[in-house]
Amino acid sequence: MAEAQTTTEHLFLRACRRQPVERTPVWMMRQAGRYLPQYLAVRAKVSFLELCKTPELACEVTLQPIDEFGFDAAILFSDILIPLEAMGMELVFEADGGPKLPGPVRDRAGVDALVVPDPEDTLPFVLDAVRLIRKRLAGRVPLIGFAGAPFTLATYAVEGGGSKSYPHTKALMYKDPQAAHALLDKLAACCATYLEAQVAAGAQAVQIFDSWAGILSPRDFREFALRYARQVIDKLRASPAWREGGVPIIYFANGCAPYLDDYASSGADVLGVDWRVDIGEVRRRVGNGVALQGNLDPTCLFLPPDALRERVRDVLESHGPGPGHIFNLGHGVLPNTNPEHVRVMVEAVRQLSRRGNS
Ligand code: CP3
Repeated sequence: MAEAQTTTEHLFLRACRRQPVERTPVWMMRQAGRYLPQYLAVRAKVSFLELCKTPELACEVTLQPIDEFGFDAAILFSDILIPLEAMGMELVFEADGGPKLPGPVRDRAGVDALVVPDPEDTLPFVLDAVRLIRKRLAGRVPLIGFAGAPFTLATYAVEGGGSKSYPHTKALMYKDPQAAHALLDKLAACCATYLEAQVAAGAQAVQIFDSWAGILSPRDFREFALRYARQVIDKLRASPAWREGGVPIIYFANGCAPYLDDYASSGADVLGVDWRVDIGEVRRRVGNGVALQGNLDPTCLFLPPDALRERVRDVLESHGPGPGHIFNLGHGVLPNTNPEHVRVMVEAVRQLSRRGNS
């Protein structure tokens, strides 16, 4: 049966606030992307950066997974690296999709050269996309805005792209901690301003992606990742633009298992959980003051449908029927995923999580 709901009381937002829901809401990180033939058809015509910078197209691909699978939330189509360009760095996406920043920041002078941009001036296409998506969604499901967390953005700015062992980032942290902190401070200011602007344009929740926080020791996680994610979260909450009742803030630190006690103190409304830890254990460790989002291993989508349903059931049962669970993958959906398996996952969540009273 169709769920008639106004946006403000949508299932996803209620789950973020740990309010009762008739079933567990579901969406998927990277839900608009290369596993979808409709996305590839758009990408055949424009480059990735053009797609990000053309609100009409960004809106179209944002809505594709909503129309196709009926996810309970839409996520703005963009990329966490887009603001680095506005801060003064050159950004290119190579043919294989990998991002490159040809002028990496490796010292204090590089940090000082970065600017904290005004999003309305430098990233108007993102805010136009948010406004257009809200209009086209017409209240069907809430729209999630996002930004990269300061630490994860720093890894790209310092390495000049992706990395396996992050040698330059760690060299900066250990050899010139003051420069590293100055960089993180600037990135935190940028991230907070950017998310404030997305909310002012209409985003109804925000997610902060700390995709590479898991490469840090517990001490460094506190000092270089969590501290700056908290800075962003605190700034958002104090902002006059933050709506009455609050826009839920989701913090996703990929590889959170070694840091659960600290993670629980991030100040976010929702914590993202990757698949390397049992979500029920996370619930026990962090208590009931925060919602949890996750945590199916994205490779489970390659299983045959019956086995996939079992894995979905495992995640739901591990968290249990208590309030504050948003079903998601433990990280982004992988490019070769079969869209029909995504449908199986969404339907399994809907069926298996239905509470008795509806
Ligand atoms: O979730 C969504 O559907 C919204 C769109 C979105 C993209 N990137 C689109 C994208 C979001 C939320 C992101 C976030 C992002 N970007 C992260 C954090 C999430 C994560 O997965 O950890 C990171 C680390 C990036 C940086 C990035 N962008 C990389 C490393 C790459 C290349 C490899 C890859 O994973 O695809 C991108 C490119 C990118 N961003 C694509 C898409 C759909 C593929 C580009 C293409 O069409 O060729």
